[in-house]
Amino acid sequence: MPDEPRGCCRCCCSFIFTLGLTSLFMWLSLRSENPKCSIKDFYLPGLNKSLNTPDNTTLYFMLKLQNPNKDKGIFYDPVNVTIRNKSNTTNITYIGNYIVPKFYQGHKKTAKKVGNLTVDKKVLERAVFANETAVFRVDMETAVRFKIMAWKTKRHRIVVGADVVVNDQGSKNPAGQKKPKDVKLSQAPMGLKFCGMVGILLNFLVFIFLNF
Ligand SMILES: *[C@@H]1O[C@H](CO)[C@@H](O)[C@H](O)[C@H]1NC(C)=O
Ligand SMILES: *[C@@H]1O[C@H](CO)[C@@H](O)[C@H](O)[C@H]1NC(C)=O
Ligand SMILES: *[C@@H]1O[C@H](CO)[C@@H](O)[C@H](O)[C@H]1NC(C)=O
Ligand SMILES: *[C@@H]1O[C@H](CO)[C@@H](O)[C@H](O)[C@H]1NC(C)=O
Repeated sequence: MPDEPRGCCRCCCSFIFTLGLTSLFMWLSLRSENPKCSIKDFYLPGLNKSLNTPDNTTLYFMLKLQNPNKDKGIFYDPVNVTIRNKSNTTNITYIGNYIVPKFYQGHKKTAKKVGNLTVDKKVLERAVFANETAVFRVDMETAVRFKIMAWKTKRHRIVVGADVVVNDQGSKNPAGQKKPKDVKLSQAPMGLKFCGMVGILLNFLVFIFLNF
């Protein structure tokens, strides 16, 4: 007789535990990895010393977006690419932005998106160091929804960026190099990843605690 409430409690606890384990496994299988973003090309003909066309104020870039997920597609919202002049670190100035239209990307696919914008001539002149190199800040902002079979997840915000250094040819790529390295766009430190890890750990501790 006195066993009955305890039995009920035990049953309740194991129910909670099972629920916890199930949600952990569901989370593991539904978990989606964010796309990997990088700058593949970055070129300002106006800063190419051997071309000598200082009136050309166009900036060209190529964005590379990779879907690392084996079985999930990605719906991208419009991708907002913002470029700033960072050669003067005490006075980082906005140059302009380019919007890549929204698109869908299949699993394990890589998308290369080109964009261009016009730089103010005065800004361009100020952007260059005495040794004719320059530093630009590239930031990218978008939101993605993952497609898991016929189902779409909620939006996940993506905010990444990096500094891009161009040489005296106005290009991020060293002259004559066949396979120049892409510049990886990454999240500011202390990002969501850390919070996510702490959240999972806390959840797990609560489940263990409930079982004792
Ligand atoms: C800069 O201009 C020179 C001369 O036209 C050209 O050969 C070179 O490819 C240009 N540099 C880049 C990075 O495009
Ligand atoms: C793109 O980003 C820039 C800089 O953060 C912002 O001023 C602009 O409003 C954004 N554009 C859109 C369409 O979100
Ligand atoms: C950087 O910008 C500040 C503020 O506009 C200016 O006073 C300074 O001279 C600039 N430095 C260089 C190296 O251009
Ligand atoms: C050019 O000058 C800048 C600022 O003085 C420096 O940070 C950069 O390393 C220099 N680049 C080269 C290739 O010498």
